[in-house]
Amino acid sequence: IFSAIDMAPRDPILGITEAFNADTNPAKINLGVGVYYDDNGKVPLLACVRKAEELLMEQLAPRTYLPIEGLAAYDAAVQELVFGAGSAIIQDKRAVTVQAIGGTGALKIGADFLQRFAPGSSVYISDPSWENHRALFESAGFTVNTYRYYDAATRGVDFAGMLADLKAMPKGAIVLLHACCHNPTGADISPAQWDEVIAAIGAGGLIPFLDMAYQGFGSGIAEDGAVVAKFAAAGGPLLISNSFSKSFSLYGERVGALSVVGASAEEAARLLSQLKRVVRTNYSNPPVHGGKVVATALTTPELRQLWEDELAAMRVRIKEMRNTFVEKLKEKAPGHDFEFVREQVGMFSYSGLSKQQVERLRLEHSIYAVDTGRICVAALNSKNIDKVIDAIAKVL
Ligand code: LMR
Repeated sequence: IFSAIDMAPRDPILGITEAFNADTNPAKINLGVGVYYDDNGKVPLLACVRKAEELLMEQLAPRTYLPIEGLAAYDAAVQELVFGAGSAIIQDKRAVTVQAIGGTGALKIGADFLQRFAPGSSVYISDPSWENHRALFESAGFTVNTYRYYDAATRGVDFAGMLADLKAMPKGAIVLLHACCHNPTGADISPAQWDEVIAAIGAGGLIPFLDMAYQGFGSGIAEDGAVVAKFAAAGGPLLISNSFSKSFSLYGERVGALSVVGASAEEAARLLSQLKRVVRTNYSNPPVHGGKVVATALTTPELRQLWEDELAAMRVRIKEMRNTFVEKLKEKAPGHDFEFVREQVGMFSYSGLSKQQVERLRLEHSIYAVDTGRICVAALNSKNIDKVIDAIAKVL
């Protein structure tokens, strides 16, 4: 039976890392995957993580099973971060949170949950969106459509198109939105535009699903999370996936969460019971370590401050790299305008490079980017940027 199975295509993002790892050129550069590297090109071990791990080492505990929904202290800390400390949603116990295997795991729990309770709904993702969104919801059994989002002409959001598409969606449709730092385009909508989106979603009886994998990489932790509170205040169903892969530099620990908001505490309890069924039938319960590290860091005041400072430093360094990228390209490729890269937010730049140009970067310069032209600005540093700029100037 296995002899008839086709070779699957490489993953559009993680497949690039595979190709990068196989490249023997010592000067290779990976601008594909969304990972933050420091100015020495290393994935940082944050001091807040190191200190949290030291605290945990002092109280080494047996590794028994966590509850199906994860560590209680972690889930509570996630809620405070996502909804804002002391928010009415938390006080009213209208939100339930389950620890998840990274942001991807959170999306999958949400997708399986929705497939069980809204099986006839279609899912709408932005055009374009994170490559895995479509695959993930399709594999959960949904038909996945797109709504207009990116406008290549203005390098911004086609907001009129987005709103029109939201208004045309059938009642009960599931809308996947990027809470901040849109992946892959780096183009976000404004707070006033969010208000219009929230109104359209409410009026249309749609189910919003916010993917928040980059909280803190846009304007700040509270600023980036503000949209969640807006959705919560508007009422109606709401799902939020979040991840600490990037913000805690804990990629391999797979630390994320899914939060779902119901109309009352009683409804929320029923939602949690069903989310637990989804988790139990997928992987039973989450791993301990990453959740403990994050919970410790978020709830120990000194570590919490350290984390906020370290996250701010990552955000600032990315912004500096955007500026350097633009300035240097101005010199090396004078006929081309890359000013828009300064305005984009988060880890990525939708650079406008074509698939062919990306291919030339890879084949001729061992520089790896996503086929769509997405580059990870967080992988640029003061040592590799000149090589990247020279290569881009050559392929333009
Ligand atoms: C990305 O977009 O590169 C990251 O979210 C990593 C991933 O899992 O694709």
